[in-house]
Amino acid sequence: MGNHLSKMKPLMLAGLALGATVLVAAGGDQSGDAVIPARQAAFRMSGTLFGGMKPAIDRGDDVKTLVPAAKALAGWAHTLPGLFTPGSDGAGTKALPNVWSDKAGFAKAASAYADAADKLVALAAAGDQPGVAAQWAVVRQNCKACHDVYHAPMPPH
Ligand code: HEC
Repeated sequence: MGNHLSKMKPLMLAGLALGATVLVAAGGDQSGDAVIPARQAAFRMSGTLFGGMKPAIDRGDDVKTLVPAAKALAGWAHTLPGLFTPGSDGAGTKALPNVWSDKAGFAKAASAYADAADKLVALAAAGDQPGVAAQWAVVRQNCKACHDVYHAPMPPH
């Protein structure tokens, strides 16, 4: 049945978990490679959160129900560069060395992503269904643009 609360629950939980991970990462030991697993967990949750918005958009749900998820995503987008601390470039990271050698370029990619996510929040809050659908695709383009340059290529499949 069309119960928005039950539909939103997984998304909201993912958002809460994402926020908690960022807090733990920010409060914990950020030296060297210790931050890598927290950073990766947060990226995975952000991916789940972002992907989870798509079925709701395609179903034509009231996009205002996506505001909490969009806000969690935007919050993550604004804070993610801070998790690429100096020396956290070893042991299992998929981040390429240019994240650190081209800090300005990486910050620019992250800031474009944050801007796009902020716009998604605004469109969702305005209840603009076609706007949210179009902006979701723009945000996905921001994921890809950064991964193309700063993320290790995916293994062939
Ligand atoms: C500013 C650059 C940037 C943006 C924007 C970005 N990512 Fe990433 N992402 C990375 C980097 C770098 C890593 C690798 C982190 C690590 O392993 O230390 C990563 C890791 C991930 C992971 C973890 C699994 C893996 O293969 O490394 C997922 C899932 C992911 N990103 C999805 C997304 C999605 C979905 C978006 C957009 C909604 C997005 N990313 C936006 C840079 C970015």
